[in-house]
Amino acid sequence: MQLLTVRDYLEMSLGAANIVSNAVTARPNLTICLPTGRTPKGMYRELVRRRRVEGLSFFDVIFFNLDEYVGLAPEHTQSFRSYLRRELFDHINVGPANIYPPDENYEDTIRNKGGVDLLISGIGANGHIAFNEPGSILESRTRIVDLAQSTLDGMRANFTPEELPRQAITIGLATIMEARRVLLLASGKAKAQILARALTEPINSEVPASVLQGHPDTTVIADEAALEVFH
Ligand code: PGA
Repeated sequence: MQLLTVRDYLEMSLGAANIVSNAVTARPNLTICLPTGRTPKGMYRELVRRRRVEGLSFFDVIFFNLDEYVGLAPEHTQSFRSYLRRELFDHINVGPANIYPPDENYEDTIRNKGGVDLLISGIGANGHIAFNEPGSILESRTRIVDLAQSTLDGMRANFTPEELPRQAITIGLATIMEARRVLLLASGKAKAQILARALTEPINSEVPASVLQGHPDTTVIADEAALEVFH
């Protein structure tokens, strides 16, 4: 695990966008697995800028999503499909049929596309990566999961009580561990406690992100606030 310490959210975003654009330039048909949430928005903004200003091409890139809510229409503004359209896909040159949201055939689809070259994830305040909530086992694959209470609490502001999704489909920890390269992003002091646990505790299922300690090519980009426990 390689840890890159950066000053703030902007530096984290630019560092992440650099890794993505270098990877896409080196391998135009890269297979990439993308996160949603607040953390990656700055990275997407920079990738969109590079498309517009530098002509970075994504035409042959294969895009997977880490996860998606169950029971939410794809066009709902809070669906992860909508999010990725809004933050990225609507502003870059995505090849037709190159976007794969998670479904029951996901493991086969990923395998048929040659596996994931680069997987990017944030870390939940409870230690989840994708929607592998605390308790997820290392052998887990793409599946439907019940969202943790702490995850639901964080979502309530964005949904009416009736539409609040209680389940999600997520790639598993085993799927994540098979990605050739993983990029974990963390910004802000709200992530400091859990990031410290993920980096220093022995790998344990209460902190699912800790599994990445066992991944051969993981880069963590974290800003100073997210690393304040170590100061
Ligand atoms: P956030 O979510 O980027 O909105 O903090 C991270 C996550 O839950 O994986």
